[in-house]
Amino acid sequence: MRVLVTGGAGYIGSHTTLALLESGHDVLVVDDLSNSSEESLRRVASLVGREARFVEANVRDEAALDEAFASFSPDAVIHFAGWKAVGESTQIPLTYYRENLGSTFTLLDAMAKHGCNRIVFSSSATVYGEESEPPFVEDAPTGATNPYGRTKAMIEEILADVAAARPELAVGVLRYFNPIGAHASGRIGEDPKGIPNNLLPFVAQVASGRRDKLMVFGDDYDTADGTGERDYIHVVDLAAGHLAALAKLETVEGYHVWNLGTGNPTSVLQIVRAFEVAAGVEIPYEVVARRPGDVAASFADPTKAQAELGWRAELSVEQACADTYRWQSANPNGYADA
Ligand code: NAD
Ligand code: WQD
Repeated sequence: MRVLVTGGAGYIGSHTTLALLESGHDVLVVDDLSNSSEESLRRVASLVGREARFVEANVRDEAALDEAFASFSPDAVIHFAGWKAVGESTQIPLTYYRENLGSTFTLLDAMAKHGCNRIVFSSSATVYGEESEPPFVEDAPTGATNPYGRTKAMIEEILADVAAARPELAVGVLRYFNPIGAHASGRIGEDPKGIPNNLLPFVAQVASGRRDKLMVFGDDYDTADGTGERDYIHVVDLAAGHLAALAKLETVEGYHVWNLGTGNPTSVLQIVRAFEVAAGVEIPYEVVARRPGDVAASFADPTKAQAELGWRAELSVEQACADTYRWQSANPNGYADA
């Protein structure tokens, strides 16, 4: 299959591009490198021995997208491109709406024009907000609590409307829980700019001595050890979920939503312990106030993806910590070291 991957130079996109190439698919990546480096794609090529085509462009750029579709004739699209920092989205909401919604409009127009009828979209467990109780099932009420999350909830609704209007379309919305880990080679991984917002990259930088200690955001939640519980899913499992969704969309039409999670909650302190074992170092931490907007627990009911996609998460949190540490140790400054 020929797959056009937006945001394919990024964290999840690069791991998925690798999995697609390994499975024999042809890939064209469209990425503006606003939060990534082309080095990720060079490394993917060196790991697979075959490269993805690359177009450096914003997905909102109609002319660039038109040319990409005309020259590549994709059978399907995976749409990763988007801005994703929750805190930043409250500061510059218009940028989030413009980039995330705008890129989706341009992409859907190009798909219609060029007769491409399959799309997999990167949504997020953040759409469950505070409306529902975990484990979250796909038809639970949604209610995002910040501009970033609202872009995901809005795009889901837009995709459902477009699918209803164009019966030939097959749409797969994947709600990721908390992606962590790196490819086992240690050659590609998550490369956040500045101070990491997310737990795993922060812990990895403490383990490697780049930061002094972890701030644990609250230990008075109604959870087993009082710290926040999340459903951490290995990025390699996540990538496999995209291939399973693409295969499913060859056999069904219409609009579909699947959770991609493990179903298992893991606390902040359990992550700290797992990382200490993986890295063989102590992770100093200090418990501080809760982070505004955080929920106590978030984890998936992954039954639907298991039943309909034949996919399930296989790699453990311990494995993800070991893989993250391998990536972090070999690339202390991410792709900037290349
Ligand atoms: P990432 O920032 O590493 O990757 C996104 C990529 O898209 C980057 O390479 C960036 O340069 C590119 N990009 C952004 N806007 C663009 C645009 N308008 N045109 C072209 N390229 C653009 O992020 P990621 O963690 O790989 O996330 C991928 C997708 O998954 C995003 O849509 C994100 O919202 C979603 N998601 C991520 C997480 C997570 O915790 N990482 C969880 C749930 C959902
Ligand atoms: C995990 C746990 C924190 C950092 C975010 C987005 C979500 C999705 C995934 C895109 C929580 C605790 C964290 C730290 C800590 N992204 N923590 N100290 O908040 O579940 O989800 O990323 O869609 O939309 O909101 O992930 O990694 O930030 O936090 O104690 O320095 O770690 O309180 O319990 P979160 P996270």
